[in-house]
Amino acid sequence: ASIDKGPYAHYMLKEIYEQPAVVSETLEGRIHKGRLLEDSFGHETKALLDSTKHVQIVACGTSYHAGLVARYWLEEVGIPCSVEVASEYRYRRVVVPSGSLLITISQSGETADTLAALRGSREQGYIGSLTVCNVPESSLVRESDVCFMTRAGTEIGVASTKAFTTQLVALRLLTVALGRRYGLTTEQEEAMVNELHSLPRQIEVVLELADEIQIMASDFSDKHNALFLGRGPFYPVAMEGALKLKEISYIHAEAYPAGELKHGPLALVDESMPVVCALPDDPLLEKVLSNLQEVRARGGELFLFSDHKVKIGLDRYQSLTLSDIFPGTAPIVYSIPLQLLAYHVAVIKGTDVDQPRNLAKSVTVE
Ligand code: G6P
Repeated sequence: ASIDKGPYAHYMLKEIYEQPAVVSETLEGRIHKGRLLEDSFGHETKALLDSTKHVQIVACGTSYHAGLVARYWLEEVGIPCSVEVASEYRYRRVVVPSGSLLITISQSGETADTLAALRGSREQGYIGSLTVCNVPESSLVRESDVCFMTRAGTEIGVASTKAFTTQLVALRLLTVALGRRYGLTTEQEEAMVNELHSLPRQIEVVLELADEIQIMASDFSDKHNALFLGRGPFYPVAMEGALKLKEISYIHAEAYPAGELKHGPLALVDESMPVVCALPDDPLLEKVLSNLQEVRARGGELFLFSDHKVKIGLDRYQSLTLSDIFPGTAPIVYSIPLQLLAYHVAVIKGTDVDQPRNLAKSVTVE
């Protein structure tokens, strides 16, 4: 198929807006009426999942962030999980627990370090390898025992967007599949599957906030640094938000687990330090709010994306409200405004959004 930008100014923007459609694609044939259709995984994958007692995720860049979110999900259903960047993993002497499944995550399927980690894993005692990948004929797909394809379509923007959200969808489906083997009830499965079913619509609603995010971005473009905070699965969401911002706007951005604020980054906070944070209605909310209170006390400027039920109660902040977001898929939904924020800041700064300096879409050499 020919790939053009259509009415969009950049591929990245087009790809951000494709997310409802490609999330639906990735769910197609894999869920039905509140149930996971496991037969769609294939016999070999099912057999591997049957013997999985531990998951090791290995990936790079944005795909690594998807893996970090998945760790929270897998542990929630009782599966031990470790996540590591491929460039570290491949040179470490790894000790593999019995019953370990290696999961690589990659948009391109050609990232040199991820591929090397997979190749090196053959002698490490894994029960097998599964890749969550977006390119069917890629090296990772060919060399892994089994694959679980994301169906994001061709991604052109160097800063990954739709590949990331479809990776999370794939990992959520794998969480249901593994969860089934660890006592997930039918009711729990139904809730998780229904959340995924609603996800394309929820993303559409968030995309409608684009104009407001653009306004927020205009207060951001003269900044030289930014801090992204999060707790739980929203910590890797913050990491991904910071990565998007630095990749395309060249603003130095750092993500921190909000609870570590007092162990260093608070020293950097003053009037010139914007702090970005997602505030979903989750059990860690009060803790995050008290971290943000610390930021305000030092004059830091807050840019928040919060659930409509959340009472923010801080003296000054800019915020956008998201409604009726389900807990399981919230990390996916809250990633969207962070993509848009980075995009609009980059546009205001006039950088080359689709081809940021010094970066490549796929890092095929070490
Ligand atoms: C490069 C790209 C990123 C991507 C990373 C991993 O750094 O610019 O967008 O997340 O590689 O690529 P992969 O294809 O393995 O997901």
